[in-house]
Amino acid sequence: MCGIVGYVGRKNATDILLEGLKRLEYRGYDSAGLAVMGTEAKLKVVKAVGKTVFLEEKLTREPATGQAGIAHTRWATHGVPSEANAHPHLDCAGRLALVHNGIVENHEELKRRLEALGHRFVSATDTEVLAHLIEEHARHRPFEEALCAALKEVVGTFGLAVVMVDQPRTVYGARRGSPLVVGVGRDGENYLASDPAALIAHTRDIIYLGDDEVVRLDDNGIETFSLDRVRVTKAPETVSWSLQEIERGHHPHFMVKEIHEQPTVVRNALAGRLDARQGMSVLGGLKDVDERLRRAERLTISACGSAYLAGAIGAMMIEECAEIPVRAEIASELRYRKPIFDANREAFIAVSQSGETADTLGALREAKNKGVLTLGIVNVVGSAVARETDAGVFVHAGPEIAVASTKAFTAQLTVFALLAMHLGRQRRLSLAAGQRLAEELASLPEKVERLLEQDEAIRLLAKKYSRYPSFLYIGRKYNAPLANEGALKLKEVSYVHAEGYAAGEMKHGPIALLDDGFPVFAIATKDSLQEKVKSNVQEAKARRAPIVVLASEGDEAMAQLADDVIWVPRTTEMLSPILNVIPMQLFAYHLAVARGLDPDKPRNLAKAVTVE
Ligand code: AGP
Ligand code: GLU
Repeated sequence: MCGIVGYVGRKNATDILLEGLKRLEYRGYDSAGLAVMGTEAKLKVVKAVGKTVFLEEKLTREPATGQAGIAHTRWATHGVPSEANAHPHLDCAGRLALVHNGIVENHEELKRRLEALGHRFVSATDTEVLAHLIEEHARHRPFEEALCAALKEVVGTFGLAVVMVDQPRTVYGARRGSPLVVGVGRDGENYLASDPAALIAHTRDIIYLGDDEVVRLDDNGIETFSLDRVRVTKAPETVSWSLQEIERGHHPHFMVKEIHEQPTVVRNALAGRLDARQGMSVLGGLKDVDERLRRAERLTISACGSAYLAGAIGAMMIEECAEIPVRAEIASELRYRKPIFDANREAFIAVSQSGETADTLGALREAKNKGVLTLGIVNVVGSAVARETDAGVFVHAGPEIAVASTKAFTAQLTVFALLAMHLGRQRRLSLAAGQRLAEELASLPEKVERLLEQDEAIRLLAKKYSRYPSFLYIGRKYNAPLANEGALKLKEVSYVHAEGYAAGEMKHGPIALLDDGFPVFAIATKDSLQEKVKSNVQEAKARRAPIVVLASEGDEAMAQLADDVIWVPRTTEMLSPILNVIPMQLFAYHLAVARGLDPDKPRNLAKAVTVE
């Protein structure tokens, strides 16, 4: 779930490993460690609980030098965060070191068997079983065969890296479910990482490992093979991200940097995709499946977290424009119930920033299994969702580093608007309506810029509200799922309890919570239901709840009802969430900072949830 870095070359491995770990720090972790292979065929293992700087400090006292090694930041799933549980884990003989992301589901059973064979365990992790299992298999066969045989026994997920003293200039990697990539370097230098971000300071040529693939990096280069040891030829893909994109620059946090990138993000999501004259969108990634899409009579959208909420809004956009039924469902639910698909007349859309979310992949595979056409709305090119879907649209948000999704969400909504337009124009959406939509979409980046000018005002507002223990976010129609997104952002980074509710539901329960200590954040921009939201705000006000509203520029009547107002430029109802989300992101960010928290590293959260 967290970070892996590996290196073989001529430079000091420790420096490269530490630098790589730092680039993955944003993902959230609780401990770190590395294993480096020295010249005297010995493994040097150093681990520390907490931040990678503690590992770095330790390394100044106990230096580890060598030209090959592996490193890890751990996000504990089995066993508390402690030095013993931090990775790398060793076998009994101390000849093999291994780092692992994911979960070994059958670890108890494997451990019992290995203990009976005399293996001694020193940690409470599920991971340690892998080191002993490989050691056991290696008693009877060469290392590489042993590694594959051991991994075949694993039930669960892994992205892993292994080094062993007998092969001092070799690093192995393997993947099932948890991402792992190879960085193709120059002059005999090669890299391994769980995320290309760890490597792009060194190389942009990236090989994405598939499930049940193994890679060997050594002086002969890179070789990939299956668990049956059949060679797999894989070409590197070039990652276009720049180093600047994965660095904070002058911004205090990635989250606020990414919020401020959104005018460009919306522009990039639209770039080359709008045909204003024909009132159409041009989505190159769907070209090959266009005829099947034209025949689709219904759609299912599935995703997790913010991506799901973008999907819930996207579903309404498509229903509105294309007039076909669309359901949006949380992937962890959809994958385990009995969804009815109509294979010939349905398409399935997976939405994911990372493209590696385990539940989203689970739902996608379920749909695929039923013969449904599968599409992806994905940010990370080369990710599992991008590879496993029949077709799709990249959102082009650039690397999203902060754990809380901001710019990827906005880019997803923009792509949904384009998709709604595309499906609409294939059906009954008129040329004039398509042209209006195209014009409105093209005007969004400038409106997002105007919203960002209120950054300082929102900072002061967030400060004013920073001591309240709970918030209720309300909105209707397109902005009902957006109320959930606003609440989710606040929970994630400020640990303040917040609930998102469809405003009409407030009087069916949550209104009981309201008093002068329970603020309501209402999305009340001008649209077909604004009068209804106004009544809901009145109801909250009557209970003395402090009220913050998002109101359309110039809507004084709405502002009068509220204690505080944030002005939002006008747009069409369908596109309003793309603007309304911006101030909510800034409010959550500033509220976290006002409470003395680091919004980039929210506790208990990981950027890509590659375990169920
Ligand atoms: C968003 O702020 C969250 N951290 C989380 O809900 C996220 O959207 C979810 O885990 C899905 O991730 P994905 O887009 O990478 O699939
Ligand atoms: N399940 C392993 C552990 O708890 C790996 C965790 C991770 O992915 O960081 O140690």
